[in-house]
Amino acid sequence: MPDSRVPRLRRFLVCEPRHFAVQYAINPWMHPDTRVDVDLAQEQWQALIRAYLAHGHTVDTVPPVPGLPDMVFAANSAVVVGGRVFGSLFHAPQRRPESLHYDLWFKTAGYEVYRPESVCEGEGDLVPTSRYVLAGTGFRTTRDAHREAQEFFGLPVISLTLVDPYFYHLDTALFVLDEHTIAYYPEAFSPGSREVLARLYPDAVLATRDDAMAFGLNSVSDGRHVFIAPRAEALAARLADHGFVPVPVDLSEFHKAGGGIKCCTQEIRS
Ligand code: ARG
Repeated sequence: MPDSRVPRLRRFLVCEPRHFAVQYAINPWMHPDTRVDVDLAQEQWQALIRAYLAHGHTVDTVPPVPGLPDMVFAANSAVVVGGRVFGSLFHAPQRRPESLHYDLWFKTAGYEVYRPESVCEGEGDLVPTSRYVLAGTGFRTTRDAHREAQEFFGLPVISLTLVDPYFYHLDTALFVLDEHTIAYYPEAFSPGSREVLARLYPDAVLATRDDAMAFGLNSVSDGRHVFIAPRAEALAARLADHGFVPVPVDLSEFHKAGGGIKCCTQEIRS
């Protein structure tokens, strides 16, 4: 079984961390007096891009904008399925202007962008799988946005309630491994949502709190390789047991803002 896992090549959208900083606190990881080493952040981010390219993936970039320190977290700016772009409406006023720049990139690339009426933070909370869109709520994206996404994509949207402020976006507590299964940290979800996940994904890979606090669930899988935070060791070992190939990439500077590998990566699904 291990060698039967086949990667599917992806197209990713990213934003260079030239203006990355922690200047405000909108999640428990952020402390406005934190110093960010921008050179180290750039090196770590470049290593992620190199890892994607080395595994055959395509990477497009949105130009970074001064004064938007969280713009590096590309996942939050849209969800794209079947070439349909569902834009974002950020919860925090500090991040709202990011949408303009991402929308412009999509429009220039020939896409139409749907503007949601309700707060919605892109792939941070809307996680497409082969059959549904798994959708987080509780801290950022609203249930109204889930309804809008269902109407827009014509895909069943499964609402899941997040309960732990450290895992304020769905993509900090769950990621898609392949068309059959996912990995997640159950305690990040309300009891009912945990039951929903257990019913939909009886074979899911479950992670511990340590894995989750190490940003291990903020990973990107191509169906074979899993780009994962190196400190999520137990989870990486479990994934290897399931035949996946962990590719460790350290984005520790970005953890200071509450983000990791997946947060820095939006997938454009054609
Ligand atoms: N500082 C950013 C925020 O709190 C981090 C976003 C992380 N992105 C993600 N997809 N989880 O909005």
